[in-house]
Amino acid sequence: MCGIVGASAQRDVEPILLEGLRRLEYRGYDSAGLALVHDGGLDRTRAVGKVQALADRLAEAPRPGTLGIAHTRWATHGGVSEANAHPHVSTDRIAVVHNGIIENFEPLRARLVDEGYEFTSQTDTEVIAHLVESHLGDSDDLAGAVRATVNELHGAYALAVVCRDAPQTLVATRSGSPLVLGVGIGEHFVASDVAALLPVTRNFVYLEEGDLVIMTPARFDILDGEGQAVEREVKETGLSISATEKGNYRHFMLKEIYEQPRALAETWQGRVSTDDIFASSISAEAKTLLEGVDAIHIVACGTSHHAGLVARYWLESMARIPCNVELASEYRYRDPVVPKNCLFVTLSQSGETADTLAALRYAKSLGTGDGGYLATLAICNKPETSLTRESDLVLMTHAGPEIGVASTKAFTTQLLCLLLLTGMLERDAADRRALAGDIHRVADAVERVLELDDAIRKLAEEFVDKDHALFLGRGPMYPIAMEGALKLKEISYLHAEAYAAGELKHGPLALVDEKMPVIAVAPKNDWLEKVKSNLQEVRARGGKLYVFADAEAGLDTGPGITVLDMPHVEETLAPIAYTVPLQLLAYHVAVAKGTDVDQPRNLAKSVTVE
Ligand code: AGP
Repeated sequence: MCGIVGASAQRDVEPILLEGLRRLEYRGYDSAGLALVHDGGLDRTRAVGKVQALADRLAEAPRPGTLGIAHTRWATHGGVSEANAHPHVSTDRIAVVHNGIIENFEPLRARLVDEGYEFTSQTDTEVIAHLVESHLGDSDDLAGAVRATVNELHGAYALAVVCRDAPQTLVATRSGSPLVLGVGIGEHFVASDVAALLPVTRNFVYLEEGDLVIMTPARFDILDGEGQAVEREVKETGLSISATEKGNYRHFMLKEIYEQPRALAETWQGRVSTDDIFASSISAEAKTLLEGVDAIHIVACGTSHHAGLVARYWLESMARIPCNVELASEYRYRDPVVPKNCLFVTLSQSGETADTLAALRYAKSLGTGDGGYLATLAICNKPETSLTRESDLVLMTHAGPEIGVASTKAFTTQLLCLLLLTGMLERDAADRRALAGDIHRVADAVERVLELDDAIRKLAEEFVDKDHALFLGRGPMYPIAMEGALKLKEISYLHAEAYAAGELKHGPLALVDEKMPVIAVAPKNDWLEKVKSNLQEVRARGGKLYVFADAEAGLDTGPGITVLDMPHVEETLAPIAYTVPLQLLAYHVAVAKGTDVDQPRNLAKSVTVE
């Protein structure tokens, strides 16, 4: 969702900005643009569509300039058009790129129109450009003008601003949207994400809420939200360029599906021995804190929410801790009753999801006394994010960068972290030992499931001309069916819904006929016989069944039913293992339909607006 790149250097920055935008493409966007300061003027180029469209336009006449800002826009205010693409300018003097939403842009716009400013877009962002211009007036204090501007804004923003009169200075600031400062030798950069700048630096400052940075090629200065100069640590990233590239895979999504055995192994190693699961691997104080937990609230969005729904089964049946799981966008606007000694858990791949972050802030605002939470725990895939910084405890999913918009390895590693959390809260040593043993086998289980890839690719051909699909599961496999349906919707644009198989007869059975494919997940567990009965209900109505079933489940391919034999896995690992064939199915259907697998229409990887 909107990406920012900016550079102040001693060489032409156009190629750096373009490469940065390419590396941010995964965030989701619909237009792109850049502005360079050169020879006392601002040179702006914008294009609707992919970054390549912008690159093609620039290739016609490469632009010089050692100072510049660039942007990929995901439309919120105003349609997808060149006029609405960033950067936005004011009087050919100020150029601005913005990520976030300015909630009070309408009154600001009315005021600026009265002052004589001419608007050329429908965006909320254009007010920022004109406000900076009006605050700058005759002065040369660009940072002061940006500070005065943000003091008038309500909402979330990450901004980068340049002025034609200051040919070396870039001013950037953030509140509610991510922004990192890249520290080079004789050059400095800003970006929404470390990945954008990996070709030019490995050293980063993760800007904090309210920080404003003033950078030239020679130096950078950071002021905090109060305007005081602050020192922030420069950290070297562990992220490699290759981790953010496709390698020999056709799509990032496929690469990320295949990376799951390694990602899962890296997520549990160092946290689990042959017979125990260590709370101390979170932090020294986590062990004592978790001993006092009597209830859990899990809050997340989308795929991360599905991981939470699986965890409820684990936490209640194994650790016997009552657990409530809720969508962050709902939780943040109601008035939840918090039980005593309740741990508040957020799940997020990106660590910047606006709804999840707002839910965390709300939970923290309740305090730690009566009616508040014992502590907050973030399960997150990205370090140095708002979510990890603002939570008391952090359990990282070591999935590595996930570029495909459809979450895959981040989800299965979230599930594994939730299994680890269940183990940490499990009071019975024998049960902890058994769970530790299962966890040691998780990478191997997923490796064996990946061997079904070819068979699933062939199966996918049967879905290409379908308009709808139903997914069924029971118990902890119900949220896995939900995740399978979401994957199919997201990347193949096929309408899919998931139901707890026992719910079929309460309504959705009316949808079932020979045109409706029904996909079921049936591992060997306590629900298996019930699931088989539900499948009979589908068959009896002529529905076409596709079942991913344990090889020992006693289900066979026959008229109207295709069974894909899954390797036998431990019951605790089934939600992780059975996710993989559903990811592969969605992937192959999308490839067969020719959709944009890694950047599906209308979606963004990091949803930083409400
Ligand atoms: C998953 O495939 C989706 N892209 C989406 O549902 C995602 O899980 C959701 O937006 C939450 O994101 P987060 O994990 O980064 O918080």
